[in-house]
Amino acid sequence: MTRTKWKAASRAALALAGAGALAAGMALFATAPAAAGTTLGASAAEKGRYFGTAVAGFKLSDSAYTTILNREFNMVTAENEMKMNATEPQQGQFSYGAADQIVNHARSRGMSVRGHTLAWHSQQPGWMESMSGSALRSAMLNHVTQVATHFRGQVVAWDVVNEAFADGSSGGRRDSNLQRTGNDWIEAAFRAARAADPGAKLCYNDYNTDNWTHAKTQGVYNMVRDFKSRGVPIDCVGFQSHFNNDSPYVSNYRTTLSSFAALGVDVQITELDIQGASAATYRSVVEDCLAVPRCNGITVWGIRDSDSWRASQTPLLFNSNGSKKPAYDAVLAALNNGTTPTDPPTDPPTDPPTDPPTTPPPGQGGCTATVSVNQWTGGFVATVKVTAGSSAINGWTVGIALPSGATVTNAWNANRSGSTGSTNWTNVAYNGQVGAGQFTEWGFQANGTAGTLTPTCSAS
Ligand code: XIL
Repeated sequence: MTRTKWKAASRAALALAGAGALAAGMALFATAPAAAGTTLGASAAEKGRYFGTAVAGFKLSDSAYTTILNREFNMVTAENEMKMNATEPQQGQFSYGAADQIVNHARSRGMSVRGHTLAWHSQQPGWMESMSGSALRSAMLNHVTQVATHFRGQVVAWDVVNEAFADGSSGGRRDSNLQRTGNDWIEAAFRAARAADPGAKLCYNDYNTDNWTHAKTQGVYNMVRDFKSRGVPIDCVGFQSHFNNDSPYVSNYRTTLSSFAALGVDVQITELDIQGASAATYRSVVEDCLAVPRCNGITVWGIRDSDSWRASQTPLLFNSNGSKKPAYDAVLAALNNGTTPTDPPTDPPTDPPTDPPTTPPPGQGGCTATVSVNQWTGGFVATVKVTAGSSAINGWTVGIALPSGATVTNAWNANRSGSTGSTNWTNVAYNGQVGAGQFTEWGFQANGTAGTLTPTCSAS
């Protein structure tokens, strides 16, 4: 996601924001120096960032709640409704009603959506909690694929994996049923997410990773560095930033954000709350984000103190009666004082080849297909890249011979014939047209062992 897109989302929000729109819109187009924004979202947008909040679906009928939501924020995270137990309560039966309601509320008002979360040791459905081994790995990847496919094009960034590192001094992975499927479970999840929604930014998200000197922070940092060096598709790191007396804000937070950003990922503050809501601490967090060009947004974990998962800590920007707290004023002032990052702060992920400019003639230049395989004991995910040759193509057919014992269980972004032996794959409606030299990606999951796959490609 580029800065421009965060800004565009915010402008759309402003256009629909009713009475406040005129004043805020004037701020956007005023001559330099830009007038101060009057809401968190508008002020963040002026700095090329977003300002978001967690939303609980059942509160959307509370007009005091939605009044603040619609006025102040231009990014939304579902507080619980996209978690594994919510979206796949029974294995293979997906339930999107509550999440869709939040997504529709947000997007119809020009707000963007962060997806939270595809794979996590916590808030798993009961059937998954009792699974292990290759069956669990397979179920997890299917979950990632199905959910990311459902929200394809509607979610700007996904917390693909949440909280996979251990607290304390080890700097290693947290023990969990997912971790016990093999250390490569995280990268497998990222690859499946990329295949299912190539346009979304893919984030790793965790808590207690704010202090640069902590082993957990270093553990996550080393994983991200490793992923970047090996081409695992990761675009961003989320810092939950639940600050309290046990894990307080520290002044090296900015170092943490900038060090991760230097690895070539965006950084986002994803679940901010601060015990006691010190205005000075909130101001510091905002200033730290604004000081790092690739820190592209801040999300607070709820609107009013009464909405907080830690309500007794009164950690948010609005009182339980909906009035602005001193921390709100500090955040708004810090946003309005902040700097705008210089371009280009990001190297965006490969955008899906959505709309080629014209309908090309049948591709005389043909196409090529390559496969990358993520194998684990008993199964694999194949990501297939179809690249058009010297001319644009209108459609493609890929043939893949699977070794005996390999059986396709599901696929995305392609039509399939055959699930064993010789399989044939053709484009779906939205990815047949590929410009000269451009590519599109699709994939499938299978039981068994992939071995070396050598696909053929023919263009139409
Ligand atoms: C919390 C929600 O706020 C609660 O409503 C729910 O009961 C438990 O989960 N880290 C995360 C979030 O990534 O999903 C958690 O949200 C808070 C900690």
